[in-house]
Amino acid sequence: MTLSRPAAVIVLAAGEGTRMKSSTAKVLHMFLGRSLLGHVLTAAEPLEADHTVVIVGHAREAVTAHLSDIAPTAGVVVQAEQNGTGHAVRIALDELPDLSGTVMVVCGDTPLLTAETLHRLALAHDEHESSATVLTAQLANPTGYGRIVRSSDGSVLAIVEHRDADAQTLKVDEINSGIYVFDAAALRTALSQVSTDNSQGEEYLTDVIGVLVDSGARVDAVVVDDMREVMGVNDLAQLAEARSVMRDRINSGWMRAGVSIIDPATTVIGVGVVLEADAIIHPWTLLEGTTSGAAGAEVGPGSQIIDSTIGPNATVRFTTADHAVIGPDASVGPYTYLRPGTELGAGARAGAFVEAKNAQVGQGSKIPHLSYVGDAEIGVGSNIGAATVFVNYDGVAKHRTVIGDHVRIGSDTMLVAPVTIGDGAYTAAGSVITDDVPAGAMGVGRARQRTIRDWVLRKRGGSASARAAERAQQAAREQPTDDTAPLAGEDGRVGRGDGRDEPEGTGS
Ligand code: UD1
Ligand code: CA
Repeated sequence: MTLSRPAAVIVLAAGEGTRMKSSTAKVLHMFLGRSLLGHVLTAAEPLEADHTVVIVGHAREAVTAHLSDIAPTAGVVVQAEQNGTGHAVRIALDELPDLSGTVMVVCGDTPLLTAETLHRLALAHDEHESSATVLTAQLANPTGYGRIVRSSDGSVLAIVEHRDADAQTLKVDEINSGIYVFDAAALRTALSQVSTDNSQGEEYLTDVIGVLVDSGARVDAVVVDDMREVMGVNDLAQLAEARSVMRDRINSGWMRAGVSIIDPATTVIGVGVVLEADAIIHPWTLLEGTTSGAAGAEVGPGSQIIDSTIGPNATVRFTTADHAVIGPDASVGPYTYLRPGTELGAGARAGAFVEAKNAQVGQGSKIPHLSYVGDAEIGVGSNIGAATVFVNYDGVAKHRTVIGDHVRIGSDTMLVAPVTIGDGAYTAAGSVITDDVPAGAMGVGRARQRTIRDWVLRKRGGSASARAAERAQQAAREQPTDDTAPLAGEDGRVGRGDGRDEPEGTGS
């Protein structure tokens, strides 16, 4: 493809966007990981124009700050008052006095534009040697748009704004998308001749077309294949429409690249996500930011994964993950929250109702159920019993817990950080561990059980519990040899209180 690059792309983004009814500037509204403005700039980027200039006006501080994040090389021109699209382009050209070649003008609120369409427009402009080429669309309902008036040879004679059109012109169903390529010199001259003699008293960029034609120049039009590409976003309902179109495009792209998306209608994948072939995405799943999913990884159903890495063959169900690294063959969920800094090694597991933060979990280690793991390092092959809490916060500062290899933490252990559990050590269920446990030791930190016989009969006499107890005691008296015997322990040592046996963890 022989394509002369445009000398400049001018993006019109000064408008207020009142119909958004939002305190956020229109072009800063986000979907699928990019702002409206960001989507437009992304479509224009492959044209490799020498200059990109964005016209800002309303909310200019916020828009300018956003641009310095996403497009630091773009120029910014402030249009203090929105005196029309022609005025906006005129002051942009004033900033580029030496510009020659072609100028492309796009709107900041048409996020579904594709680079292919912009290429096609630029190419048609060069081939026909036109002084201007307008991107148009055929609409069933052209209400509100500028209409394209063509001559018998198909060239464009004028663009007439809806408000300024007569009955005949209002019947035209070919509309101006607001996207154009111009010869820079011709545009500059024509803009100096545009008046404000119209229903809005503005300098219309569209009037440039009539001025050019009157001077004997040729103007052409390219009709867009898919009219959705030029759909402007003016309110939050249209924003949602644009999002769903873009979502379908992205999902189709990944499916064609070998990713299984079980239900594309409920799967939302941001523009910055990277997936490998043979990844599987289950329904109701959002993949956001810089998330990546390797071959064989299964994500969802019901998961939101932000800026996280999912390794090969890992499974992640009903999970929220944010800045987490999930290793190969690891298993997460259901109902799991992995917060920033969580790193699960190969084959590691974080199960139901587990929350982890800033925690490095070694290969094959498991946190199967109901635990909080904050500010921790866990070695390989260790098991964290159900309902363990890494007590990382003393009310002022956060502290770290270090757990070695092949450790067994008993259920309901409180690990009061800073604390270290050595390789191969155990803790007894229900312990509050405040001191380090050396390698191979058993840490026990709990009170002995006390059993107060007949307390219920004395304190809750006549209750259902008391009656049940009486029946059991009666039955025991009638069958004194059966194995209700443990209740009869006289020394208050029923149950193990000394941790001399098992840690009573969970190990599934
Ligand atoms: C414009 C076109 C119309 C076309 C339609 C397509 C004109 C006069 N009309 O109409 O033919 O069918 O777009 O959507 O151009 N803007 C500025 N500064 C201004 C005015 C506008 O930056 O002073 C920006 C807006 O923020 C917006 C774009 O230019 O991104 C279009 O302006 P808008 O007021 O929406 O023009 P329309 O009336 O929709
Ligand atoms: Ca508009």
